[in-house]
Amino acid sequence: MISAATLFAMAVLLAAGYRAARADDAKPAAAKADAATTEPKKVSYFRDVRPVLQEHCEGCHQPAKRSGEYVMFPFAALLKGGESGDAAIVPGKPDQSNLVKQITPSKKGKVEMPKDKDPLKSDDIDLIRRWIAEGASDDTPASANVTFDAAHPPVYHALPVLSALDYSPSGKLLAVSGYHEVLLWKADGSQLEARLVGLSERVQSLAFSPDGSRLVVAGGSPARLGEIQVWDVDARKLLLSVPMTYDTLYGVSWSPDGTKIAFGCADNTVRAIDAKTGQQVLFQGAHNDWVLGTAFSSDASHLVSVSRDGSMKLIEVASQRFVDNITSITPGALKGGLATVDRHPKKDELVVGGADGVPKIFLMYRPAGKERKIGDDFNLIRSFDALPGRIYAVEYNPDGSQIVAGSSSPDGTGEIRVYEAATGRLICKYQGDPGPIFSARFSRDGKQVAAAGFGGKVVLMDAATGKPLKEFIPVPLAAAAAGK
Ligand code: HEC
Repeated sequence: MISAATLFAMAVLLAAGYRAARADDAKPAAAKADAATTEPKKVSYFRDVRPVLQEHCEGCHQPAKRSGEYVMFPFAALLKGGESGDAAIVPGKPDQSNLVKQITPSKKGKVEMPKDKDPLKSDDIDLIRRWIAEGASDDTPASANVTFDAAHPPVYHALPVLSALDYSPSGKLLAVSGYHEVLLWKADGSQLEARLVGLSERVQSLAFSPDGSRLVVAGGSPARLGEIQVWDVDARKLLLSVPMTYDTLYGVSWSPDGTKIAFGCADNTVRAIDAKTGQQVLFQGAHNDWVLGTAFSSDASHLVSVSRDGSMKLIEVASQRFVDNITSITPGALKGGLATVDRHPKKDELVVGGADGVPKIFLMYRPAGKERKIGDDFNLIRSFDALPGRIYAVEYNPDGSQIVAGSSSPDGTGEIRVYEAATGRLICKYQGDPGPIFSARFSRDGKQVAAAGFGGKVVLMDAATGKPLKEFIPVPLAAAAAGK
């Protein structure tokens, strides 16, 4: 038998051991590394070096961009270098490696690379030097070594989840998100016109610029990297690849003059960049959960963001200042998150959708003279009848008289509905089950809706009757290709 005293002693010992373990956990990483200096760890390309290159370099040095004719993958190309003819990396010899020369600051603290940006942190430069000195070996696991470019586009063995769609302003093209790419279809779904293959594994959101010349893509690789891509639509050429945060990006939108691009982040921030340079011009951290949607005011002076925290916030663009909660601040009023927002084509009114399945229209600005108080919901203009499941897609039609909403239910079904904006009247719903819907857009003449989601097919619906018009698979399937 174990005595009570022994049990007590064991408990004390356990507690002490537990505390010791905790103290060790809490030690800064540097102290831990010190303790291990007897056997220094080799620098890993995959774990240590590649993330630095992804964050600071790959935007310009990738197959779709090729600055200085230098691309950083596949690995052989990273070593080889570009137009200068000098080897970027000479294994074992950091001082003879052009890449090291390019990133090493001059006496004045200037660097060639990253071009027009601040130098890398000295820790990162040391890391790259050490990795080269240790032989510059490639330890990328085979599973992570798949890279795609225009000549080697993704191969699909199953229908992919489709997160995003947009019609070009001319009405001629329908852009559809794929895996590592955007597919440009003829708007009627009759023909695949182009595949825009980029760095990001996932494409969460996309939008044509107001003049239709450019297409912005927001996405990334989960828990690794977020990226904004800007494509020249006619030339099918990547203009800009801007790395942002360490997770995928969402809810991208253009300012009406086409100079700024706003998007939401999984670090709870909303940001905007200059559409030409990629420079960050707005950063706001007022949300406390992922930001999934953005929309500019009609004069581009303000930006609206919606979040999984259930709120819609108003930001002044010039000052980057949080101005107002557009949604109610009543405790308990925020039921579930908001996933999507669109601004009326002419007025500063917003339609939102989210976890409660209820499309709602809000005024962007609080009516003059109204103090914001607990219990009010002044900005709310209209709630529509709920769709089953959660809403991931809402949009106004081109003249602002109707809205479309698309939803996804946990049982694997979905719905698409069109409502009259002014009265809340249901105009139609998709006749049939389109599968869980993540994106829905009116065609530019307002006569059709294109929608897509978990099912991997694009459905085209008559916007007046809900009649299915066409259904197509937007990606080339391997099985179909093999059958040719
Ligand atoms: C904003 C775009 C941009 C970014 C970011 C960038 N580069 Fe470059 N890089 C260029 C351009 C453009 C050239 C061609 C030479 C020039 O114009 O200076 C170049 C050239 C190079 C070359 C010479 C290739 C050759 O052999 O001619 C190396 C090496 C290089 N970059 C490394 C890097 C590294 C390492 C980083 C990240 C730390 C980086 N670059 C980030 C645009 C960029």
